[in-house]
Amino acid sequence: MAVSCDIRGTTRLVGVIGDPVAHSRSPAMHNAAFRALGLDWCYVPLHVTGRNLEAALRGLVALEFVGANVTIPHKEQAAALCDSLTPAAESVGAVNTLTVQGGCLAGDNTDVGGLLLALAEARVELEGREALVLGAGGSARAAAYALAQSGARVTVANRTLARAEALVQALQGRVRGRLTAIPLADRAALEASLQQATLLVNTTSVGMEPRPDESPLPDDLPLPPGLTVLDLVYAPRQTRLLREAAARGCRTIEGLRVLVYQGALSFECWTGRAAPVEVMMHAAEA
Ligand SMILES: NC(=O)c1ccc[n+]([C@@H]2O[C@H](COP(=O)([O-])OP(=O)(O)OC[C@H]3O[C@@H](n4cnc5c(N)ncnc54)[C@H](OP(=O)(O)O)[C@@H]3O)[C@@H](O)[C@H]2O)c1
Repeated sequence: MAVSCDIRGTTRLVGVIGDPVAHSRSPAMHNAAFRALGLDWCYVPLHVTGRNLEAALRGLVALEFVGANVTIPHKEQAAALCDSLTPAAESVGAVNTLTVQGGCLAGDNTDVGGLLLALAEARVELEGREALVLGAGGSARAAAYALAQSGARVTVANRTLARAEALVQALQGRVRGRLTAIPLADRAALEASLQQATLLVNTTSVGMEPRPDESPLPDDLPLPPGLTVLDLVYAPRQTRLLREAAARGCRTIEGLRVLVYQGALSFECWTGRAAPVEVMMHAAEA
């Protein structure tokens, strides 16, 4: 949905830096939130290639932006360019939220808090529980950090085992919970982990449009009915994994909820105001 802003000399600016960035739902989400609260703010998509990232980040400071979100593929590189990082951003090694503070760039990772808010909303317990994370990319790192730091024991299953092992090694010792890596193709290990787990989080891109009929799990792998399944893929909202989990009696959480909560946390970081979460949800759905 196109959102127009009434831009004036007083309008405060934020945006999202990515490549590509045209698909981002964040401008619609944030501009709807600014309108709902009557804030003279505007959120713009900023297409920035890797070789221009440093200049673009310094440009945010020079242009007196309040801050920006950072998305694919710049989250790790942006972390290295920040003047300061929150403990979450430092442990995850990636930022998705920048705030300009006194001419410096402060980096945060609200993907971590966004995931935890979506789980808290669904009343998912993490302390002392087992969680299985599928994938070992950027979002897996934030998910594994969030879960293990909340006291869960986390198994990371990835197509490329070396990447899962690197993730576990990077987080081990920085978080409260224990982490283990297994190959996604190891059916026995996957089944054993699922039997112990109370939470399954898909962070792979499998099931995303344009291939919504794919699932990251083998077809005949039994999902225990007590399991909660969160799929970070949000296009489509109801992925094949979520549909099959619901059919087996599992509780399901859509990735769109995490997307909205990470945006809400960025909004609060910049404005100091409580985010109108349902307004943002409605805008993200459109
Ligand atoms: N809801 C939200 O707020 C939110 C936030 C961030 C991301 N996401 C979604 O999460 C997904 C992953 O994003 P990302 O940034 O983590 O991506 P990424 O860094 O590129 O990682 C992709 C992951 O998917 C795995 N993968 C890709 N194709 C696969 C296949 N055919 N079979 C098995 N595994 C496969 C990769 O395994 P290998 O390591 O073996 O290549 C890797 O673990 C995307 O759909 C993205 O839209 C959602």
